[in-house]
Amino acid sequence: MTTITALDAAVLEELVSAAVAAPSMHNTQPWRFRLEPRTHTVEIRAALDRELRAEDPEGRGLHVSVGAAAFNLRLAVAHRGWEPVLRLLPDPHEPQLLASVRLTGRSSSAAGTRARDLYDQIWRRHSSRQPFSPQAIPRALRAELVDAAHTEGALLHLPDLDESRRLLALTREAEVRTTTDRARREESRRWVRPPAATGFGIPPEALGPQDAAGHVPMRDFTSLQPSTRLPSLPFEPRPQVAVLSTAHDRRADWLRAGLALQHVLLLATRDQVRTSLLHQAIEWPDLRWMLRDTRNGPEHVQMLIRLGYGPDGPTTPRAAASSTVD
Ligand SMILES: Cc1cc2nc3c(=O)[nH]c(=O)nc-3n(C[C@H](O)[C@H](O)[C@H](O)COP(=O)(O)O)c2cc1C
Repeated sequence: MTTITALDAAVLEELVSAAVAAPSMHNTQPWRFRLEPRTHTVEIRAALDRELRAEDPEGRGLHVSVGAAAFNLRLAVAHRGWEPVLRLLPDPHEPQLLASVRLTGRSSSAAGTRARDLYDQIWRRHSSRQPFSPQAIPRALRAELVDAAHTEGALLHLPDLDESRRLLALTREAEVRTTTDRARREESRRWVRPPAATGFGIPPEALGPQDAAGHVPMRDFTSLQPSTRLPSLPFEPRPQVAVLSTAHDRRADWLRAGLALQHVLLLATRDQVRTSLLHQAIEWPDLRWMLRDTRNGPEHVQMLIRLGYGPDGPTTPRAAASSTVD
């Protein structure tokens, strides 16, 4: 095990590389990392220069993205054999400091082994925007995903087909609104770009087709530009959707949703289950409110996760660690 005194630039880079492999809205990677050497703490701040002003004006998606990165950072610290102590919004005087992970003493070997299994999935997880097969997600995995979200302070529901169709209809409505809203449409187009230049944004190869049957409203990042659109394909007729929500709707809840999201995605990846995210309806307050299943009480939906078996998604590049570490 590396001692904490050996926490040097190379180790920090390893930890940050794991953190930035997390999903982020439009691959904006809206985070900056800094090591506080005195307390052995890695701090994560919001990178406000990469905010999505039109589609994410409150910063909800930014917080979810940073929460996912914080999950990976905590996991990478545990994988290295240290005990991580995660704090969300640790300094009320510094609102842009969203999370910190302090490295404390040696962790138990059981914790290290658990961390290793999940840590390996960090590099295997990619959004897969292709059609999935009709194969159902096993009951045991579904239960494990629900527990994982709960461990992170969030809630996960796997609704029945009728409820899933209702949620997807709201997502379709959001998709229509977004693609006909000039500011939002242009913002998402701007983030689809060849990766070589900066390492930020989504490469066109990572995008998928639209559903020919209209069951699954995938996000149209290129917004109806016929020249860049792939031919539509039939998607799974019985989509399997998980609803991630939180009991409250404050910034700390958005971060917790990000922790839970990443925990769920990594467990799914471990079992060869592919995932992609459907966030469109969350970006419209009235539709987000309608996503709630009133039978479960007044929860706040933070993400729809599409799950299934199918082709792995391609790797979407990340910016060099040097451009996100202070
Ligand atoms: C808050 C948030 C919202 C997202 N919304 C969508 C979405 O609506 N549609 C989609 O296909 N991907 C969505 N994504 C996935 C990102 O586009 C993806 O994580 C990013 O491009 C990096 O690619 P990767 O997941 O393959 O590593 C979202 C991710 C986050 C964290």
